Amino acid sequence: MADWDPDQYDRFKEQRAQPFWDLVELVHRGAIERAVDLGCGSGDMTVAVADRLGIHHLTGIDNSPAMLEAASQHGRVAVSFVYGDIARWTSDADHDLVLANAALHWVPDHVAVLERWVGALAPEGQLAIQVPANHDHPSYLASAHVASQEPFASAFGGEPPPDPVAANVLAPERYATVLHELGLAEPHVRLQVYPHVMQSAEAVVEWTKGTSLMRFFKRLPPEMHDPFVDAYREEVVARLGLAEPYFFTFKRILMWGRMHG
Ligand SMILES: C[S@@+](CC[C@H](N)C(=O)[O-])C[C@H]1O[C@@H](n2cnc3c(N)ncnc32)[C@H](O)[C@@H]1O
Repeated sequence: MADWDPDQYDRFKEQRAQPFWDLVELVHRGAIERAVDLGCGSGDMTVAVADRLGIHHLTGIDNSPAMLEAASQHGRVAVSFVYGDIARWTSDADHDLVLANAALHWVPDHVAVLERWVGALAPEGQLAIQVPANHDHPSYLASAHVASQEPFASAFGGEPPPDPVAANVLAPERYATVLHELGLAEPHVRLQVYPHVMQSAEAVVEWTKGTSLMRFFKRLPPEMHDPFVDAYREEVVARLGLAEPYFFTFKRILMWGRMHG
């Protein structure tokens, strides 16, 4: 089965770093003894945020062996990395910060997951989450279309994997309500459009190869990966055009909340 490819994911590191640091900006400064980075990926952001916020102990949790292998290169006293499923993760009201950047959308049932994550917060503990919300962009609709065409449709048994963002991510106002109902004070939830000037529409293919196309690679035999990417590239160019550079708009939801003291 195809695992995450940290190198492919990191090709757009700079563009992906901006929302991460915007999220970190939402975290109120002060002593952070114990924190967790859920869906930490290759770990470089985990280490960077531990330094930026002066976190005493930060645990990065991920269920990708390749990502954890990359993360293990960042040995630090204050930071550790462990295998775990963020969909089930919780803890006993003992964390000052629960952080999850670009990870929550991979799991379903956000109301129940958020309840478990909020249950891990100590009094005055903070929750900070960023999820993509770009599932209606033509580049994302293009991959779903290609997956519904032959020969891929048959390879998926007529049921291509759904886009997790479309299936799992809630509306911003719903997240605000859920955070309020879970007892977080003054929840801050916003939809932000990140502007990315890409060399061309084809560059968007390289971007999605590292993330949203993973769901197709996990289900397709290896010899169908390249033909899938080729058909997708063709569809992307047909939908986005040949303009150079290509202006790629990317919507994301950032959310923050704090437990009462
Ligand atoms: C898009 S990457 C984000 C990585 C990192 N947070 C960042 O901002 O660069 C999503 C990460 O979530 C992890 N992930 C997805 N579903 C997961 C699950 N159920 N349990 C643990 N990790 C998961 C993936 O393995 C991947 O490393």
